[in-house]
Amino acid sequence: MNAQELIDTAKKLVTGDKGLLAMDESNPTCNKRFAKVGIPQTEEMRRAYRELIITTPGLNESISGAILSDETIRQHKKGGTPFVKAITDTGIIPGIKVDAGTKDMAGHPGEKITEGLDGLGERLTEYGQMGARFAKWRAVIVIDDGLVPSRGCIEANAQALARYAALCQEAGIVPVVEPEILMDGDHTLERCFQVTEEVLHTVFDQLYRQRVMLEGMLLKPNMVLPGLACLKQETVNEVADATVICLLRAVPAAVPGITFLSGGQSAELASARLNAMNGGLKSRLPWALSFSFARAIQQPALEIWQGEESHVLAAQQALYHRAKCNRAARRGEYSAAMEKT
Ligand code: G3H
Repeated sequence: MNAQELIDTAKKLVTGDKGLLAMDESNPTCNKRFAKVGIPQTEEMRRAYRELIITTPGLNESISGAILSDETIRQHKKGGTPFVKAITDTGIIPGIKVDAGTKDMAGHPGEKITEGLDGLGERLTEYGQMGARFAKWRAVIVIDDGLVPSRGCIEANAQALARYAALCQEAGIVPVVEPEILMDGDHTLERCFQVTEEVLHTVFDQLYRQRVMLEGMLLKPNMVLPGLACLKQETVNEVADATVICLLRAVPAAVPGITFLSGGQSAELASARLNAMNGGLKSRLPWALSFSFARAIQQPALEIWQGEESHVLAAQQALYHRAKCNRAARRGEYSAAMEKT
């Protein structure tokens, strides 16, 4: 492990007010999103869609790193250029999702555990040779009626995240550590705050035990939000305040950056909430507050594309626009007016 390289890469991923583009949906998830807008669910369509994304003119103005899936990192542009080379040539850093997805957790009804640690060291070496400089592992935590999440689920997922992160750093790859508290359900913002704080404390405890160098990693958490079905939906500023307070309590200042997932928020709300954190609250933040969105950047583009060659340009414009809005949000300069331009 070259510690300085890890530190430099982690910093590079959050400098210049840029953020990450998560385009690492597993094949089943990508197919599900294609099916919703009537796009055929084939390997070639997934390849064509990812080519649309990485060839978007000007994407590198707002995006520092792109997270790929195992299928995508092996794919090529129509002309034969490997995706990894095409991405790197634009100055965007390639990353790779390395978890093997979630499974029902034995003995813990309704809860999930993320798998993929077996053979991970070897896979990381291979991905490193292919050009990946950072990685992602997502743990999923469900909130349900105060019974869930259980300590057993939180601890098992936190330990897996920390073991993944240690393996990444050993392979010279920056780990993006993603504990996601899902928005599904009718829980309140206060409950999400409690659970997020508990999960983050547990994750950082495990990262410490597994000797992960905090300066050479990024955290990818959820924002602190009420459940989608909760009757009380707090304002943008209330969400920003709660999220920043929670993160300040649980995330050490040695971590260079926090790159939020969007988790099912609308594209505009995700930008507005990130903007509010980076606007009024910036002087309180020891880390860069950035984004690592999938749906909140891609969804409008996917809906425009619909699998049609003739829609590629318009879809790329929509993708460029969302990336630009989120870069503005990193500076606290995003406003609803940007959505009209
Ligand atoms: O693991 C989840 C993705 O990387 C982020 O996706 O922004 O759609 O929640 P999302």
